[in-house]
Amino acid sequence: MNQPTNIAPASGKLGVLMPGMGAVATTVIAGVEAIKAGIGAPIGSLTQMGTIRLGKRTDGRSPLIKDFVPLAGLDDLVFGGWDVFPDDAYESAIHAGVLPKDQLDQIKDKLQTVKPMPAVFDRNYVKRLEGSNVKSMKSKWDAVLEVRDDIKRFKADNGCERLVMIWCGSTEIYMAPHEVHNTIESLEKAIKENHQAIPPSMIYAYAALQECVPFLNGAPNLTVDVPAMVELAKQQGVCLGGKDFKTGQTLMKTLLAPGLKARMLGVRGWFSTNILGNRDGEVLDDPESFKTKEVSKLDVLEYILPPELYPELYGDIYHKVRINYYPPRGDEKEGWDNIDIFGWLGMPMQIKIDFLCRDSILAAPLVLDLVLFTDLAQRSGMSGIQEWLSFYFKSPMTSPDLYPEHDLFIQLMKLKNTLRFLQGEDLITHLGQEYYD
Ligand SMILES: NC(=O)c1ccc[n+]([C@@H]2O[C@H](COP(=O)([O-])OP(=O)(O)OC[C@H]3O[C@@H](n4cnc5c(N)ncnc54)[C@H](O)[C@@H]3O)[C@@H](O)[C@H]2O)c1
Repeated sequence: MNQPTNIAPASGKLGVLMPGMGAVATTVIAGVEAIKAGIGAPIGSLTQMGTIRLGKRTDGRSPLIKDFVPLAGLDDLVFGGWDVFPDDAYESAIHAGVLPKDQLDQIKDKLQTVKPMPAVFDRNYVKRLEGSNVKSMKSKWDAVLEVRDDIKRFKADNGCERLVMIWCGSTEIYMAPHEVHNTIESLEKAIKENHQAIPPSMIYAYAALQECVPFLNGAPNLTVDVPAMVELAKQQGVCLGGKDFKTGQTLMKTLLAPGLKARMLGVRGWFSTNILGNRDGEVLDDPESFKTKEVSKLDVLEYILPPELYPELYGDIYHKVRINYYPPRGDEKEGWDNIDIFGWLGMPMQIKIDFLCRDSILAAPLVLDLVLFTDLAQRSGMSGIQEWLSFYFKSPMTSPDLYPEHDLFIQLMKLKNTLRFLQGEDLITHLGQEYYD
């Protein structure tokens, strides 16, 4: 047994602040309210349904994760956020069309109390959106100050003891890291000079970190994946995580690719295409926003199937990802994959996947888990990039000297071992002592 970590209790209310209150955010809020009301189950959530094995297999100890580590309870969550549109969470959920109206009507009064604060928004960074609920900010620095005020006011008005911010907003245009992102000083100077390398998502993130609020990034935007933000998080003793929720097609990829590699099967090509018709799809129809998503989606295979280690198997993979905006489909995305693989003596084979998925239904439990685990990490004295939460991200943030781990099963092992470590339990390595006795 290790020494258990000193974890502050999960007492009082935990505020969940979401820049972007569209399909994903409202599906989370509605889900939590439905679960609290006993009219739904938290399917897909590790914090609510998952168990964790402790000790030897023969010990028979597999408690629920939520009974093993001190997580905030669903009754203690208070939701808030910002959006470009003034719709409350009920109206926004109806517009998103993820959950049926009759289900939303049962929790309507709860959802109507969640009203978005005016957003920090600039159409130069998300071209396909135009809304009226926007701050009339004079400068980017003013916007930071306004968001910091919003955070303080939300915390006081709702009697929250702690907060977590999680970006559920749109995908911004593609931005490569710029030299102004290198240090805290250059970042602050750039915000003060209204530099174009500072998109709205960075304004929210910078404000959160200054207020000592952990920040998680559910979109592929650069946001906190730059040295200055990581340094600021460390300086403030705050947790960071990102980026891009791992749902749908990428979830399938990170399930299947490790299996192909485990069996030393080769991959010649992987063609992925999607149709979706929600607001996210509309935003991603803009080539500059799509580029941000494309980079996040393409990285996955390169790390799971490393060409430098297996040149014969993965040295020449043709990997293509397409997203097509198709309004009739709404949030009910369809993702097709054609995978050209080869086996013994190079003989070719094909795999076809047709995943009729519901994006926000897959994303909502990830948001809940990320919020609860990050709050746990924060109460445990952790700070900076939370790599043990890579399990939830398409494009996990890492320290600059490390490569990201994309394999879902390695990610899960790392997550559970972190929980065991926090509680002073032996880590499980799956190395059987019986082979040596
Ligand atoms: N649904 C999934 O499975 C999934 C998976 C991975 C990543 N994501 C990402 O999560 C994000 C949310 O997805 P969604 O389906 O809810 O999209 P959505 O379009 O329904 O919601 C996004 C909301 O963000 C708002 N917004 C945009 N810029 C803003 C700003 N600067 N401040 C405040 N609000 C702003 C928009 O008005 C919109 O209501 C997207 O970036 C998407 O790419 C979603």
